[in-house]
Amino acid sequence: MVRVAILVPNPPVVITAVFTFLIYISCINLYFEKHSTLIIHVEIISMRVPLSEPWISKQDKLMMMRCLNNPQLTDGPILRQFESKFSKVTKSKFAIGVSNGTQALQLSLISLGIGKGDEVIIPDLTFVATANAVIATGAKPVPVDIIPSLNISIDSIKEKISNKTKAVIPVHFAGLACNMNKLSKIAKKHNLFIVEDCAHAFGTYLDKKHVGTFGDMGCFSFYPTKNITTVEGGMIITNSKKLSKKLYSLRNHGLTKNLIQRDKNTKPWNYDIKDPGHNFRLDEIRSSLGLSQLKRQKIKKYSWN
Ligand SMILES: Cc1ncc(COP(=O)(O)O)c(C=O)c1O
Repeated sequence: MVRVAILVPNPPVVITAVFTFLIYISCINLYFEKHSTLIIHVEIISMRVPLSEPWISKQDKLMMMRCLNNPQLTDGPILRQFESKFSKVTKSKFAIGVSNGTQALQLSLISLGIGKGDEVIIPDLTFVATANAVIATGAKPVPVDIIPSLNISIDSIKEKISNKTKAVIPVHFAGLACNMNKLSKIAKKHNLFIVEDCAHAFGTYLDKKHVGTFGDMGCFSFYPTKNITTVEGGMIITNSKKLSKKLYSLRNHGLTKNLIQRDKNTKPWNYDIKDPGHNFRLDEIRSSLGLSQLKRQKIKKYSWN
């Protein structure tokens, strides 16, 4: 049997030609089935529309190349610019760049003191990273139902709150904002933190406020399928100075000073370590890609609800 695969990029344009070809092949097959052992098998494989395709412009590439001329290749001035622009766009007081969205969630929970013995409520419809980030802290993810709009069910949250529950992670799934007003009331009543999973939701507004600014923290992903990309990367936003200080330190091994602060000192090796931290830093190449992408975003503010 001979297999012939036909890729169809634009069905309406090629459909007539393909049908003619099929009829032609069928006739040949009929002939060979009777007279020989040669059978031609035709498969039409339609070219799929990709789930997403990153848009990397010439300017993006230029920015990435340029940053390689700077001596500081990570945790440097371009990351600071990216963070500052991100907090401006989302109207949050602080933005903390990290290596990916999962670490953004994990670090947020750690900075809130969440760990072993605690429970964190998450929706049962999300990417596994939401649950993995909770597990990485030592806490237990407690999945609850969603409502038809694909967002976490407030009623289901109420049912699952226990004396171990410390936080809720609402996921603004596929850019659909959760009901943050109702959720904030419940969180306040039960003394729960809210860490918003905004991995799908850069550019999503609710009541003219960017998502991620309703809870204690908002976590974004810049994975290549997301609205803007740094290849791998993430960002945490918060309005709390205290939490931001903790997050800046925890992403950098728990050091009290970053490289820029240390370089200003005559003794750059002089720093303290207050808490056990992580290396969740965002390097300058990825930051320059993120900054360049952010600069050409034209966000139209409209609320879903
Ligand atoms: C809902 C959700 N949360 C978190 C993440 C984790 O982001 P990252 O892949 O940047 O770690 C993703 C990634 O796709 C996601 O879809």
